[in-house]
Order: sequence, then C-alpha cells, then structure tokens
Amino acid sequence: MGREKAYIVGFPPGGYFGIQSPRVCIKAAEASWDKDDLPPDRHAGLLAIVKQGAPLRLRRAVQQFAHYFHREMGFDFIQYELTEADDYEAFVWHEPHDLDDNGTIGLVGACCFRTRRYKELGTLRALQWIWLHPYRRRRGLLKNAWPYFEKRYRRFDVEGPLSPGMTAFIKKTNFPIWDKEWQLATGMPSPPEQE
Ligand SMILES: CC(C)(COP(=O)(O)OP(=O)(O)OC[C@H]1O[C@@H](n2cnc3c(N)ncnc32)[C@H](O)[C@@H]1OP(=O)(O)O)[C@@H](O)C(=O)NCCC(=O)NCCS
Repeated sequence: MGREKAYIVGFPPGGYFGIQSPRVCIKAAEASWDKDDLPPDRHAGLLAIVKQGAPLRLRRAVQQFAHYFHREMGFDFIQYELTEADDYEAFVWHEPHDLDDNGTIGLVGACCFRTRRYKELGTLRALQWIWLHPYRRRRGLLKNAWPYFEKRYRRFDVEGPLSPGMTAFIKKTNFPIWDKEWQLATGMPSPPEQE
C-alpha cells in the first residue's frame, strides 16, 4: 500500500466524535508560499497555502478538516481528498503557541477555494468550504484573512448552503454573495448559474 492510501486507514484520528489538531512542519508551511501568493501582514493569520502537489502532510491536514466539516455540517460527501488533481487552493490556520521542539505546529482549521465557471461571469474562484476548530471561532480568524482573499481573488463566490455562522459573517462584512437563501432574505439579484 502506498503512503497516501495508508493514510486513509483509521482516518481521521480520534474516532468519529474526536477532533485532533493536525501538526505540520513550519518549514514546509513557509515554503508553500510563492512570492506572488504571500500575504503582506504575516500571512493574515494563515500558515500555509495548499495546492495540488503540496507536501503530503499539508494535504492530509486539509483532508482532516474536510472530514470535520463534513461531520459537523452533515453534507453527503467529503469535499476534499488529498489525492485529487483539481485546481484548488486551500489555506490552513495555525495555533501560534502550539509550536514544539521538532519544528511542528498545530493547526486549527482550513478552507478551500475551487475554480468555477459561471454562465454570466466566466471563471471565478469560489470558497467551497471552511471549518475552524470550535475553540477558535469568533476570534477574528476569518475576518483577518478575508481582505487577503479579496485581494488575491478580487471577486469570488461563497458557495452555499451557508451555515448560520457563515451567514452572520457575510452579513457583518457586507460581502455580496449569490446564494439563493441569501438572495431570498435580501432581495439581491439572481445568482449566476454555474456551467
Ligand atoms: C463560520 C466560520 C467560518 C466563521 O469564522 P470565524 O473566524 O469564527 O469568524 P470571525 O471571528 O472572523 O467573525 C467575524 C464576525 O462575523 C460574525 N460571526 C461569525 N460567526 C458567527 C456566529 N456563529 N454567530 C453570529 N455571528 C457570527 C460576527 O459578527 C463576528 O464578529 P464578532 O465576533 O466581533 O461579533 C467558523 O465559525 C466556522 O468554521 N464554523 C463552522 C463551519 C462552518 O459553518 N463553515 C461555513 C459553512 S458555509
């Protein structure tokens, strides 16, 4: 069995209701940023960018958070798989104090942007999912990273269905999204159709 397959066995660790913080090597995380990717202010709280071909530990960490997202939200499929070849860009958040002597640091969440084609708008990035550890919510992690995402992608979509927390976040930031429920609630124009 290859290394990537072996990781699936007993994954994620901690049992169905357990949440464990995956650890990644700080050096690998730093190396994930290309010059063009690098957010100006110490990564806007983001530790690493994770794309196809990123180090396995980083991709595995994103997959672990995708599992937690899936469990909490009750969606019928897991939205990220570490071997996938899609043109995605994921980001991970870390716990700054959780650094050990081996140069690894604990992570507290991830999000994933996908490329989508819209009839009216052409190709855009869309935030497909985001999951932050419950103990680290409402501390401004997403708020601090949001300007970086807006700068990086200019216009992007946030895919629904939105959780109550994400709905509140979007409302607070006045970010224009096209989710149908949001549209009904706000009377915003029709959402564009994905091709
Ligand atoms: C939704 C989520 C991504 C928000 O990230 P976050 O880092 O906790 O949000 P922030 O701390 O940056 O919130 C900024 C503002 O958004 C609003 N907000 C965010 N989450 C909220 C919530 N659960 N309830 C009410 N308002 C909320 C608040 O106005 C908040 O400012 P305040 O805390 O000063 O009042 C995070 O809570 C999460 O991972 N939830 C579980 C998974 C999930 O719902 N994913 C989205 C699926 S669509």
